[in-house]
Amino acid sequence: MISAKSIHRRLIVRLLAAWLAISLLIGGIVFFMKMRDVDEFVKNLTFNETRALLDDKKDYINSTNPKDLDTLKKMMAEHIMKGHFVLVELYDKSKNRIVDFDAKGSEDVENYIEKHKETHILSYKARYNRFYFEKNIYIQIFLPLYDKESNLIGHFEGVYRVDAKTTKDITRSIILSLLQVVAAMLAITIILYPIILSMDKDLIKLSRDLSEANVGMLETLGSAVAKRDSDTNAHNYRVTLYAVELAEAMGLDAGEIMSLIKGSFLHDIGKIAISDNILLKPGKLTEEEFSVMKTHVGHGYDIISKYNWLKDAGDVVKYHHEKYEGTGYLSKLKGGEIPLNARIFAIVDVFDALTSKRPYKEPFGYEKSMQIIEEGRGTHFDPQIVETFKKIAKKLYDTTSTGEEAFLEDTLHKFVKKYF
Ligand SMILES: [Fe+2]
Repeated sequence: MISAKSIHRRLIVRLLAAWLAISLLIGGIVFFMKMRDVDEFVKNLTFNETRALLDDKKDYINSTNPKDLDTLKKMMAEHIMKGHFVLVELYDKSKNRIVDFDAKGSEDVENYIEKHKETHILSYKARYNRFYFEKNIYIQIFLPLYDKESNLIGHFEGVYRVDAKTTKDITRSIILSLLQVVAAMLAITIILYPIILSMDKDLIKLSRDLSEANVGMLETLGSAVAKRDSDTNAHNYRVTLYAVELAEAMGLDAGEIMSLIKGSFLHDIGKIAISDNILLKPGKLTEEEFSVMKTHVGHGYDIISKYNWLKDAGDVVKYHHEKYEGTGYLSKLKGGEIPLNARIFAIVDVFDALTSKRPYKEPFGYEKSMQIIEEGRGTHFDPQIVETFKKIAKKLYDTTSTGEEAFLEDTLHKFVKKYF
């Protein structure tokens, strides 16, 4: 049964996953927009300083007087010492480099640019690109220079380093924005949780009712077949209890155990289709009668396979009379071909037949029953499962084999509650 607890857990997991996904998505968009703002901001910083740097120097660029060039170099060097440019190159209109200035300590970034970036792009359009190097933001700028009459008079190429405080402010602003997104999404998730949970209440109740109806139907079907050849459900209860205990000892997961419970309780459901003169015959069945009796596994499978919720009981219903060496019926499967739940059930079904009273025999004691199980190891039964069964068989024999029907029913209901 889907419990309220598991629905709450699933809801929390899904809401957290949604929170994470939306935070990543919106965080990504915010980050992208922030970076666009940063780009614009540092681009403006760079262009403003470039403008200030070149403002009063354009007249000197194409001068043929060597003194003018010296003055230009001197003026630029002075300006660069005070500003943020770490690399500066100036070209005249004939694309001759007339100024090449590297700020002190800029060797590393210069090497990095040589290796990873384009340089000396002397085109008619301004270009810039932003990059990070050793925790600093840099802007590389390529700028064609024009006079007042819009004639090209040269080219400027520079690398601008955003100062540490500005870089820190930018980084802090980006982190703050992302944290705000994450916090806002978390707040929305927390607000949504009780709203969705309250909507889930009806779903939980519906799911419980459905599960109870399914279990009730399982018991009704099991009782229906038990009434055909016995007065009580005791055999069905016992084999189901044995099977669950054995499966738990083998470490099967909850889903497999749930299928095993259904299969065990309904293992002989196909006997509904066997006529009374064969099913209730007091003496030994003839060969022909026995071959009819064998068909109960197929009839059982036909009955349960039509209902989706019961389909997984099919392994036990269809294959519980298979034998490990391949001599069982009806499919004559061998060893591992026989589904695990059917191999488990085969042992407990025989164990219950041995330890119970039948019209043709008194119950066998524990020792004799286990001796017969042991003899069937590797021929009738899976030897590994027999090994595990031997560890728990005495406890099962003492607590369950002689238990009253009411006690067995009660115990089984505890398992049903645990697994459904
Ligand atoms: Fe059977």
